[in-house]
Amino acid sequence: MTSRYLHDVLIIGSGAAGLSLALHLPRHYRVALLSKANLNEGSTFWAQGGMAAVLHSRDSVDSHVTDTLAAGGGLCQREAVEFTVRNSRRCVEWLVSQGVDFDVREDLGASHDSEFHLTMEGGHSHRRIIHTADRTGREISEVLTERALAAGNIEVFTHRVAVDLVINEGRCEGAYVLDQRSGHVDLFQARAVVLATGGASKAYLYTSNPDGASGDGIAMAWRAGARVANLEFNQFHPTCLYHPKAKSFLITEAIRGEGGRLLLPDGERFMTRFDARGELAPRDVVARAIDHEMKRLGADCVFLDISHQSLDFLQSHFPTVMARCLEFGIDISAEPIPVVPAAHYTCGGVVVDTRGRTDLAGLYAIGETSFTGLHGANRMASNSLLECIVYAESAARHIAQTLQQTRAPDAAPPWDESQVTDSDEDVVISHNWDELRRFMWDYVGIVRTDKRLQRAQHRVQLLQAEIAEYYGNYKVSNDLLELRNLAMVAQLMIQCAISRKESRGLHFTLDYPDQLPEAKNTVLRPDNSPLQ
Ligand code: FAD
Ligand code: SIN
Repeated sequence: MTSRYLHDVLIIGSGAAGLSLALHLPRHYRVALLSKANLNEGSTFWAQGGMAAVLHSRDSVDSHVTDTLAAGGGLCQREAVEFTVRNSRRCVEWLVSQGVDFDVREDLGASHDSEFHLTMEGGHSHRRIIHTADRTGREISEVLTERALAAGNIEVFTHRVAVDLVINEGRCEGAYVLDQRSGHVDLFQARAVVLATGGASKAYLYTSNPDGASGDGIAMAWRAGARVANLEFNQFHPTCLYHPKAKSFLITEAIRGEGGRLLLPDGERFMTRFDARGELAPRDVVARAIDHEMKRLGADCVFLDISHQSLDFLQSHFPTVMARCLEFGIDISAEPIPVVPAAHYTCGGVVVDTRGRTDLAGLYAIGETSFTGLHGANRMASNSLLECIVYAESAARHIAQTLQQTRAPDAAPPWDESQVTDSDEDVVISHNWDELRRFMWDYVGIVRTDKRLQRAQHRVQLLQAEIAEYYGNYKVSNDLLELRNLAMVAQLMIQCAISRKESRGLHFTLDYPDQLPEAKNTVLRPDNSPLQ
């Protein structure tokens, strides 16, 4: 049985992007905020290092822009970069006004002139990462969630999985949404719909991301007819904890920012052989260097050593990393941490403008699910939370300005389950899930070749056919929806990777090791794109 919900604005996703947008909307609009698990289970909650912003008197917008453009391998859109960086200070002020408690310099005894303690990460030429120790995402997530729950106009729905968007005469008017508790698929309608569903790094076997990063928003937008771009640029974070029992635990780049050194198993410091910036080279360079050394030596991992810092320093800056490592018997104040690269961030996504507008009227995309042009071929560390907050505000402003003139959605058909039954073969889902993530890791990883990409393309087509048949016969579940979306996004990633005949930023292929003179985005258009 389908229930129908009607709001002014439907926001799918409760990370930094979705929560910020909800809070920026005028209070007289009725807002539905959806999360497919509990509110704090997206990537935002796990963000460690912090958020980049121009706050120090010796830093400048120009410098942050220049660093972002350099990390992005010539592919960033300058307009998006300038727009984001120019708004960084204001976004920090807004977060502080909501109650976010960033570390101030007195707490940490640092000697710089910002009110806040600013840390350093790869690619940045200044200390400009504002943070709350190494649990910045948790702080932002908890404060914004508390605000959203207290706001009278925001109705929160947890354990609701958006299945597909409702499109009426080219306009997005809502989404079909699975209620995981009742098993029913309901209809949520609104005059504006926002995808804030995060990234797709679960496409890879090893990832820093929490469950749920299955690219749902990208897949839904694509199926609805919106363009996507640059999905070949999958960022691998260089340092995730290597331990058989540690699932998805990141070791923040801020450790390298505060002097952490990368070592081979024999203790050799190797990064300066690859880049003059050493451990603080941009992420693509560091991850590739680690991958190269691990393959050369047949090593299972490399090591990150911060043990030269005092215990006090480590406890105040990196309490989360310290505690988690100790659970696995690793004392970071006394020994190096075993680390490996893992899939971390989806640089491409749904194509949007600076207001977060997609190709479809009424549909916005913000945060990691979107492609704004900010990150180019490689996202600079800590520019993601910033992008979430900047574009949330901008999209909220545009929605507020236009909603009065937007017609109410037409009646849409209820979800039709008349042709499907309960699944009796869930093994198909778990098998395909494992297979997909393994071949993506092996064939579409840090180093690619045409042959590997073709193998991956062949495999993903077979999987998609099997998943489509399953989807057509059985009732939907969260696992099935995530698998369907991941396979869709994996196919788009492979398609983008195959079409890029060069190595640039995060896309490195042995068949085309050089960079072409002209930097071009890979933009894919679905058959039903309104722009055709
Ligand atoms: P998320 O926070 O991932 O939220 C996605 C939301 O969408 C969730 O609520 C989820 O339930 C919901 N959702 C998804 N699909 C559906 C669906 N079908 N139906 C309903 N709801 C759905 N970036 C930085 O800038 N600085 C950092 O220090 C940093 N550290 C990081 C550390 C880790 C371990 C990770 C994983 C990422 C880190 N990043 C960092 C990246 C950054 O955290 C993310 O890019 C950012 O938080 C994404 O926010 P978001 O709001 O777009 O999505
Ligand atoms: C980290 O703390 O290393 C993550 C920073 C980021 O992904 O931007």
